[in-house]
Amino acid sequence: MRFERAEVTSPATIANFGPGFDSFGLCMESPVDRIRIRAAGDGARSVKVEGGHTLPEEPEENCSSHAASRLAELSGRDDEGFDMTVVKGMKPGSGIGSSAASSVGGALAMAAILGVDDRQLVLEAAAMGEELVSGTKHYDNVAAALYGGFTAVSDPRSNRILRLKPPDFSIVVLLPDVAVETRKARAVLPSEIPIEDAVYNMSLASGLIDAMARKDIAGVCAHLDDRLSVPYRKALVPGYDSVKEQALKSGALGVSLAGSGPAIFAITSESYAPEVRTAMVRALSESSGMESESFVTVPGSGARVENVD
Ligand code: HSE
Repeated sequence: MRFERAEVTSPATIANFGPGFDSFGLCMESPVDRIRIRAAGDGARSVKVEGGHTLPEEPEENCSSHAASRLAELSGRDDEGFDMTVVKGMKPGSGIGSSAASSVGGALAMAAILGVDDRQLVLEAAAMGEELVSGTKHYDNVAAALYGGFTAVSDPRSNRILRLKPPDFSIVVLLPDVAVETRKARAVLPSEIPIEDAVYNMSLASGLIDAMARKDIAGVCAHLDDRLSVPYRKALVPGYDSVKEQALKSGALGVSLAGSGPAIFAITSESYAPEVRTAMVRALSESSGMESESFVTVPGSGARVENVD
């Protein structure tokens, strides 16, 4: 071990971001998970979860500690044992990349105490944490949480990540009071899709990346549609169509499902954000009777090592 302890923050993310199923991700400034690690030196591992959420505390069943151990292995080192505390800042199963935030945080914290400066290794280890929770190794949430801004897996053969700085906009996030496990939300997807739907998403994805690179907010939002996952998953989120309609009527420029849901996000300007938020909360409650939590944030710059010594 090069260092004794480290503290890392790792943010919530919006995976898929419209047409980019399993590829696109947008990092949010908040909420964040806070991961603390202390080298134990005796080979024993422990993990404790704080923040009012119940998650596994067996080191190989918790995605943060699992990702930390994988990071040590991938870098050819022994983790030598550690004590980890995960302070959850976000609700698991809500669609805003909770397991990715914790996995990136765990891997980055281990990289910090080992003195490993290789973000691609952190990405790989974090994807293994994600796989533990969801059953598949998708990189969209972990890439956005690690690198910040807008990310796309631009080559799935090498897991190369394209990174773009988004323009300034507000993000309104609605968290309906229902948990949707990613594993189950993936099970509702068809194993085959019509070729015209693949072409539709591929075309919109190209347009969205072009608009993002030009920092054209209206252009980004005009391409936020999807035929690969949202049509199959929205049944898991009662009130989705009504929330989308009311958000757009109140000043949102684009709306979609965040990751595998149930979170719904809207892109808008700072001045319209409060109105859009109120409209989304009300539309959900009136259409489905469901309670929700909601927040407004902006694009974020990714996971950070807050201190290491
Ligand atoms: N791309 C993943 C999915 C994200 O939609 O299943 C899970 O949050």
